[in-house]
Amino acid sequence: MKAIILSGGKGTRLRPLTYTGAKQLVPVANKPILWYGIESIVAAGITDIGIIISPETGGEVKAKTGDGSQFGAKITYILQDAPLGLAHAVKVAQPFLGDAPFVMYLGDNLVESQLDLFLDKFNSRHLDALTLLCEVENPTAFGVAQVDSTGKVLQLIEKPQNPPSNLALVGVYLFSPAIHNAISNIQPSARGELEITDAIQYLINWQKNVESFRLSGWWLDTGKKDDLLAANQIILDSCLDLSIEGSIDEPSKVSGRVHIGVGTKIINSTIRGPVTIGKNCHIENCFIGPYSSIADDTSLIEADIEHSVVLKGAKIVDIKQRIVDSLIGERAQLKPASQRPKALRFMIGDDSQIELT
Ligand code: DAU
Repeated sequence: MKAIILSGGKGTRLRPLTYTGAKQLVPVANKPILWYGIESIVAAGITDIGIIISPETGGEVKAKTGDGSQFGAKITYILQDAPLGLAHAVKVAQPFLGDAPFVMYLGDNLVESQLDLFLDKFNSRHLDALTLLCEVENPTAFGVAQVDSTGKVLQLIEKPQNPPSNLALVGVYLFSPAIHNAISNIQPSARGELEITDAIQYLINWQKNVESFRLSGWWLDTGKKDDLLAANQIILDSCLDLSIEGSIDEPSKVSGRVHIGVGTKIINSTIRGPVTIGKNCHIENCFIGPYSSIADDTSLIEADIEHSVVLKGAKIVDIKQRIVDSLIGERAQLKPASQRPKALRFMIGDDSQIELT
């Protein structure tokens, strides 16, 4: 069994945050989203992993993620020249996959790991495709499945205007090598992409075994700010390394579940977990409230922040109003305010500078 993780595409939905970077590398609880997928695949016993990358962001994905040794895996990078669809990505990966059955994992999805259960069903029922499904409130934003009472998939439609059910396709799929023939028999959709839903529909039409697995845990498609903040909250609640490696001075108060990285200085501040703070940060005269993730090399001075994600190298200085539900991009700077509105809500991209006057 092999795995591919799709980390190409353009990531337009998180712009401006990912204008300069791969959306799969945006951190949740200070760890790139992509790495959660790798860890969950390795935990299920699969160590031969291909990562699909794009010409625009592939270099960054490769540099950050490496050859896989840090995950106990062997990673092969596979270049997809243009984002021509999920099935196109499988086509490009075919030389890597050979005749192996495989997991296909979308690199921007965060799924509570149940991959082993999913694999058991695929193997024991000798399936050609197993799709993971989750009930959602807005099925028009996803691929949608219609299933019978036994979980057999009858029909799949990509982002339908009139969804036949509220069961969305989660970005984790299992395939036998039969998918390659299906892909070679489908045409690009109206939006010009080779759709994996069309390839699976081809298998269904040819009476292949296509079943579904209902996800009982949580799942987040992290393409948008609020999804990302929700993912951050769930991860901080469920898996947080509680080590305190930085320094905390006498007047500071740290309570709840907190991680503080090496080289970070906490000066005269209150940190109320769950909170994770990266390496080499300067936190002075601050309140850092629950569900905040503060990345490496950030400076927060005279700031009050909660339920927010601050990316690497950002600087927040002398903002007296509480910052909530915010996503602050790499190296972004927030400077002093002279007039004080009651609340602030931000989505600020990399290299932005905000001055409140
Ligand atoms: O998140 C679940 C949804 O993911 C499913 O419900 C849909 O059926 C499925 O089509 C997909 O929809 P998205 O619109 O969310 O797909 P997106 O374009 O965001 O691509 C998903 C991941 O695959 C993302 O990490 C980028 C990568 N990708 C995408 C394309 C189109 C590639 O690597 N190559 C590609 O050609």
